[in-house]
Amino acid sequence: MEKIDVFDTTLRDAEQVPGCQLNTIEKIEIARQLEKLGVDVIEAGFPASSPGDFASVVEISRSVTRPVICALTRAVKQDIDVAVDALKHAKRARIHTGIGTSPYHISKKLHSTPGEVIERAVEAVKYARRFVDDVEFYAEDAGRTGEEFLARVVEAVIAAGATVVNIPDTTGYCLPDEYGAKIAYLVHHVPNIDKAIISTHCHDDLGMATANTLAAVRNGARQVEVTVNGLGERAGNTALEEIVMAIACHRDLPFETGINTRELFHASRLVSTLMRVPVQPNKAIVGRNAFAHSSGIHQDGVLKSRDTYEIIDPAEVGVDESSIILTARSGRAALKHHLRRLGYLPGEKELDILYTKFLELADKKREITSRDLEVLVGNEASRGNRRVHLEALQVTCGASTIPTATARVRSGEETRTATAHGNGPIDAAFRAIKAITREEIILEEYLVQAITRGSDDLGKVHVQLSHEGRVYRGFAANVDTVTASVESLLDAISKIDS
Ligand code: KIV
Ligand code: ZN
Repeated sequence: MEKIDVFDTTLRDAEQVPGCQLNTIEKIEIARQLEKLGVDVIEAGFPASSPGDFASVVEISRSVTRPVICALTRAVKQDIDVAVDALKHAKRARIHTGIGTSPYHISKKLHSTPGEVIERAVEAVKYARRFVDDVEFYAEDAGRTGEEFLARVVEAVIAAGATVVNIPDTTGYCLPDEYGAKIAYLVHHVPNIDKAIISTHCHDDLGMATANTLAAVRNGARQVEVTVNGLGERAGNTALEEIVMAIACHRDLPFETGINTRELFHASRLVSTLMRVPVQPNKAIVGRNAFAHSSGIHQDGVLKSRDTYEIIDPAEVGVDESSIILTARSGRAALKHHLRRLGYLPGEKELDILYTKFLELADKKREITSRDLEVLVGNEASRGNRRVHLEALQVTCGASTIPTATARVRSGEETRTATAHGNGPIDAAFRAIKAITREEIILEEYLVQAITRGSDDLGKVHVQLSHEGRVYRGFAANVDTVTASVESLLDAISKIDS
């Protein structure tokens, strides 16, 4: 079996997507879960891009010790200096530097020449190697770069000291045969290729990211760059859970990863909650329906033998529908125990808040599952960061009634109240909030999902709004869907100008 290194870029490629931004505490929480998953490398950010990204790379380097911590740079000395500084606490640090190599990038973006691009690439790698032993080079838009030129670039950067060469299909243009052939070409035509690991970094613009990644592995790549839930620029990146399970299921393939697959589902839900991006129900491996059998023929088959219609045992990826664990009679210690089991280590003050919220929820919902707990924790984390808070909400609706909502919202010391009508309870409540916050916002997306089942279930609400051309996302969960909707709207509004 050959080991395939898993390089997770959820905290960089996915986090740079508008609306998916995380604060440092949220990033650390995800980084800890990635460590638990067993990823080999965490790309923690692009430190030169903002002070926030810089601080996150510093804090992740302090909090997570097993995986290599990687920081992205352009092929620019100043970026590399900033990355070196941000990585100073990392036990094992990697700098990921690179430049565009396709004709589109060389002539239209960089206004440069192929010769100059090789020079800049070599100079950046040599410079980064002065500070760290582990330097990864990315040939941006390698998917649309000719093989011969790409081979020249790769040979030059390896000679300059690159330990990993990343061949990104930045625009998600390649088909699996084509991308696999590109990797095979490098394996056979770059004389010093044995001195570096070839890495894949695929985008999903044509829905090929996982297939392309697998094709690359079969042709010699030994590192895969992925994100949890496949989030990332535009249509996203290769989903970590998909490539890991494709390799795990196909025992005929001579590859393995070091991923603890039982942590996949938890990682998926944590990233979805903190990044406020719902997981589509039919998402491979981690979607709500990934292990649900609805047709009678399928149900009959599964009851006779699970493997008639299931290629993966849900428990193998951490899906445990039967994990009903706590009730309103459970004490603080039991809550703490179960939170720890799920990977959360709340401080005493945080535990007090969570316990109060837990009791409120347990009063309304008979049994609290591990999924409810995950949402509760995510909910409290995002509520703590809000600058506007819902103090009260009253809604009237029903047949032959004009839906009306009155909301009271606090921002710092100031409290405001407004009443509005709408075409339904949510519309009325949103209008009241808009009247209070007076922000020019357009609601772009509104999605309600139940966590498990039953009319007493927690409703999760994701909203996406735009304000002055920028997108903001919000998330909240509550057994009362109207309250969850308003909390989610306030979560998104809190991010404007924050
Ligand atoms: O898609 C891409 O090319 C990237 C690089 C910065 C690695 O994200
Ligand atoms: Zn990318």
